[in-house]
Order: sequence, then C-alpha cells, then structure tokens
Amino acid sequence: MSAKIIDGKAVSKVLREKIFNKTNALKEQGIVPGLAVVMVGEDPASKIYVKNKATACQDMGIKSEVIRMPHSTSQDELLDVVEKLNKRKDIHGILVQLPIPNHINEKEVIERINPLKDVDGFHPENVGKLLSGNPYLISCTPYGCLKLIEHYGYKIEGKTAVVVGRSNIVGKPMAVLLLKENATVTICHSHTQNLANITRSADILVVAIRKPNFITGDMVKPGSLVLDVGMNRLANGKLAGDVDYNSVAKVAGWITPVPGGVGPMTITMLLQNTLEAVYEQENLLRK
Ligand code: GUN
Repeated sequence: MSAKIIDGKAVSKVLREKIFNKTNALKEQGIVPGLAVVMVGEDPASKIYVKNKATACQDMGIKSEVIRMPHSTSQDELLDVVEKLNKRKDIHGILVQLPIPNHINEKEVIERINPLKDVDGFHPENVGKLLSGNPYLISCTPYGCLKLIEHYGYKIEGKTAVVVGRSNIVGKPMAVLLLKENATVTICHSHTQNLANITRSADILVVAIRKPNFITGDMVKPGSLVLDVGMNRLANGKLAGDVDYNSVAKVAGWITPVPGGVGPMTITMLLQNTLEAVYEQENLLRK
C-alpha cells in the first residue's frame, strides 16, 4: 500500500486564490488589509519565515510592514512598538515573530497585542475562545492542518485522533480543533508511555515534536491520515519531518510530505486570519 499525498502547496494555491479575490473586494470598498510583522534579533530561521510572510502578503495585495529590532531591544521598547501598532487603523494584524530574545518575557508581549489583531491566535483571549468552542483567530499551523483534512473530504467526526506534541502553538490548539470536529482526541508528549501503542490507534495522527523521522511505519495504523508538522534541518542540510516518510507512506492511507505538506498552509492561514481581522475590525460581514 502506498499513501496518497496531501499536497499542501496545491491546497494553498486554491485557498490563496480565494484570499486574493477577497482582498480585491475589500479594496473596492477602500480597505487595504495591513499586517505588521515584528522581528527582534537575528535568528536565521526567523529571518526566512518573516521574508516569506512579507512576500506572501505582497502577492495577495495585503500591505505588510516588517519592523526589525536589534537583539538588544528592551521589553519596554518592544511593548511600546506593539502598543503603537495596536492603535493604528491601517494595521489589522500584528505578529511578533518567535522566538524573541530571552531577556524579554514572551507571555507579556503576546498579552499586550490587541486580541482583535492577534493573527497568530496566541493571545489568551483567542486561546480561550477556541477552547470554549467559539473561535475567532486560530493558531495558523493547526488551522492549516484542519483545512488540509477538510480539503480532501476526509470525515473527522467519530475518528480517533492522536496529537504527538503539546506546544501552545501547535499541539494543544490542534487537539482542540479536532475535538471540536467530534474526533476522540489523545495528546501524547515526552512523558507518554507506550507511545507506539497509542499512535497505532490513530485514524488521524498529527506529529509536532521537532524530532527528525521519529514516527516510523510500525507506529501507525494502516490506512490512517498522517500530518507531519516537523521541519528539522539535518546535518547534511536536508529538511526532514518528524515522520519517517518512506516507511510511514507504505502503511498510512494519507500523508503530508516535508517540504510541501503542512508548511505552506501556515502562511496561507496567516493571510486568512488577516482577512478575518479586517472583517472584525471594519465591522464587515464575512464574505
Ligand atoms: N515562530 C515559529 N512559528 C511561528 C508562528 O507561527 N508565529 C510566530 N509569531 N512565530 C513563530
């Protein structure tokens, strides 16, 4: 058996066409969506992510403003920038690229972002809305995973879902999204015992643990749907997911490749969230 490929690039293209059309419709009403991306320090991976986010905005006709601050930036200086962006009418979305330097308290920065503009979906108010079943802005990577599953017409309801990883950015919101779609959800993490027994029970398996090729073919259920959130740079410079693609693709029914699976969806959902933020702030009905 060989798994069908879940093509995040192709799905992103379809979704971005819709986003482009919606952005144009907004422009006809005199509204240009605006996204501010704040980056503190020189993290090489973050530089690439931020550049990709800005390019994607440009392609969609979304105005993007990248604010680069040195590693020596103080917490107050960063909070000041966030406050100014909170007040600006032309900026609908604010994203502070993580990680930020250790001398700045990440929680305080996230909590300072106006929840209406929190296109990352990291603010406790948005996390709470998701948890209580009434989401507004949803963390982009798990939101993208959900859209991938839906795009291929896979029915989540009643399925057994296992999420490996419990980060605030991916694992926890992913589990809540799957629960909202009526899956029976288990979250596994570094203290989980008999992990393979649990992953083998999964109809839907989402892996986000930053360990290259960790999930192997013997750990997945035949015919299952496997989403690999991992993006690990190997010593030889190649990218590897958290899932051992070659062995798992022989057992699973559906699988995301790395690159080209979940990755492209993250930025697509950021663009989608920016539009959501525009509709909310401009008091427009969602189109
Ligand atoms: N760093 C890695 N992923 C993300 C993300 O989704 N949002 C932000 N703000 N920083 C990140």
